[in-house]
Amino acid sequence: MPKATVEAPSNIAFIKYWGAKDLDEAIPAGPSLSMTLQRCASRTTAVFHEGEDGPDEVLVAHNTDDLAPAGDAFRRPIVRHLRRLCKWAGRHGRFQIATRNSFPSSAGLASSASGFAALTLAVLRAFGVAPDRATQSVLARQSGSGSAARSVMGGYVAWPEGDRHAARQVAPHDHWDLRDVIALVETAPKKVASRDGHRRANTSPFFEKRLSLLPERMKRAAAAIEAREFEALGEVIETDGVELHLITMSSVPPIFYWMPATLAVLEAVRELRAEGVPAYSTMDAGANVHVICEPHHEEQVARRLSRVDGVLEVIRDRVGPGPRTDVEPLL
Ligand code: PMV
Repeated sequence: MPKATVEAPSNIAFIKYWGAKDLDEAIPAGPSLSMTLQRCASRTTAVFHEGEDGPDEVLVAHNTDDLAPAGDAFRRPIVRHLRRLCKWAGRHGRFQIATRNSFPSSAGLASSASGFAALTLAVLRAFGVAPDRATQSVLARQSGSGSAARSVMGGYVAWPEGDRHAARQVAPHDHWDLRDVIALVETAPKKVASRDGHRRANTSPFFEKRLSLLPERMKRAAAAIEAREFEALGEVIETDGVELHLITMSSVPPIFYWMPATLAVLEAVRELRAEGVPAYSTMDAGANVHVICEPHHEEQVARRLSRVDGVLEVIRDRVGPGPRTDVEPLL
């Protein structure tokens, strides 16, 4: 029975994907740029029962080693993606899927990016096919999770590019060692799914303005990465991170992802900078804060964030090389 296991990391966007031209295929309204992480990852094993009919089986381990059948809401988009991948490959059969995150599922970081990247790559390996990275990226985004398009590669990744809207590596992970110190302030699932946020984005009167600023911002970020200019990159990261939330807060109806502790962490980051520690914050569609810094400041940043009222846990991650296949199967 063809079987394959892939571990794909999550990524943190420096310039955010928010708003789509086509939500089902995740064709973004604007460009985005991210850093692929190392520790926060999803491991997925796919077993392909070729020629067999019957339902796909989806097992998930939530914060434990024990796999259990996934609930309907978790299973549905996975099954939809499996059917799409079968159609793409011209194959017929059913799957057994098992998946586990390296970070606690309750941590509010559960990212569809790592999950759908791992699923896509494991299924392709189980099919015995090895399309190029751009095709892998296109197939991953067709899951409906656009950020998954960036998680199929390591280092610093821009998306989309070309007619197929694939991601492209801007620089490999060993070009520049950057750290992501994550301040967890919320562990509950987010109140409004990013899918609904994308759908609402163009109701903000500032959405078109933001889109008009992004090409220049992408150039500045890519140039800062190329030249390893941390402060230049940090300014872009922080501006864009706040801007995503300006769009959510001015959408109709508005979405407020921040919590009081989010603001307290943002304040701590500004204080760190005033004390001469270059560190810059960004938030995805949630209340948790990712603080990006260079390796020699990581310890100080982590210590400071863990003292902020309302911070439940601090997770330290870093730029990573991308998906791995040298991992223990789950099935
Ligand atoms: O990939 P999605 O549909 O879950 O959207 C991701 C949205 C953000 O995480 C907020 C931004 C991004 O570019 O990753």
